[in-house]
Amino acid sequence: MTDEAAFILFQKGMEALGVKHEVRWVLDEMLRLGRGDSYLQEVLQRRSKGEPLAYIFGHWAFRSHEFHVAPGVLIPRPETEELVDLVLERMRSRNRTFPSWHIVDAGAGSGCLGIALQLEAGNSRPQLDPKLTLIELSEEAWPCLEKNIAQHAPTANLFKGSWLEWPPERIQVLVSNPPYISGVGADKPDESVAEWEPHSALFPEDLRRFPDASGPYRELIRLAQHCVEPGGIAAFELGAPQASWISEHVKQNYPLWSGELVSDMGGKARFWIMQRLA
Ligand SMILES: C[S@@+](CC[C@H](N)C(=O)[O-])C[C@H]1O[C@@H](n2cnc3c(N)ncnc32)[C@H](O)[C@@H]1O
Repeated sequence: MTDEAAFILFQKGMEALGVKHEVRWVLDEMLRLGRGDSYLQEVLQRRSKGEPLAYIFGHWAFRSHEFHVAPGVLIPRPETEELVDLVLERMRSRNRTFPSWHIVDAGAGSGCLGIALQLEAGNSRPQLDPKLTLIELSEEAWPCLEKNIAQHAPTANLFKGSWLEWPPERIQVLVSNPPYISGVGADKPDESVAEWEPHSALFPEDLRRFPDASGPYRELIRLAQHCVEPGGIAAFELGAPQASWISEHVKQNYPLWSGELVSDMGGKARFWIMQRLA
């Protein structure tokens, strides 16, 4: 088969799968790897089984950084990229509040959120050079996370365990994109997400106790109360069930904090950002 015939077959196959927009990326990857037509066949075969392109490539872009990804970690999402901007803005505006910064990313997965924050705060004006701790419970995530630490954040600390077990230190920023899908009504992942991405990254462990998937936020807000210094912030990604609950929860139980819900670019309430007042 000629190169052109192989390419046309690949393009048609990708179009039939509804992922024609990925053709360009696959060609770039094929060139990068120095592979031939057999790569197109392999990708088409794996894509037709629903495997996400990020797992086929073994890496994915998050902001301007390339992260290793594998089936043990969630594929970095564009919404989470927005959370980086929101946190960086707040860190810059408080740059004189603290002599040094320590960011903790609880539920780090690939590490994309915490690592991007450390890299970009280090390159920003004013330059903040924060310390970084990544907390991750899932053993399946660790190999990938360790590769990303080695590549992008060699000074970061990795805590292999639950955020409930992390010995709290005084920190200035707590961030998290915890598992927040309830599985109730429309709050379900797409079929391919449910099939391919780690269950523990999508659904909280304590769904029976808190069917609105608020369990991780209850724990993370308590953690913030223990370790974030006055003037510091805690910022979380969330979904609709938690957006309707979180501000009342904080108002009633955490008088030392003020918080706001922020929408993502699609107009959905997606982030909760709270500041410790005293
Ligand atoms: C939605 S994924 C987010 C991963 C990454 N931060 C991102 O934004 O792509 C949530 C991560 O939290 C981890 N996780 C869940 N419960 C945890 C806990 N109690 N302690 C530490 N990590 C936890 C999961 O294993 C998963 O890697």
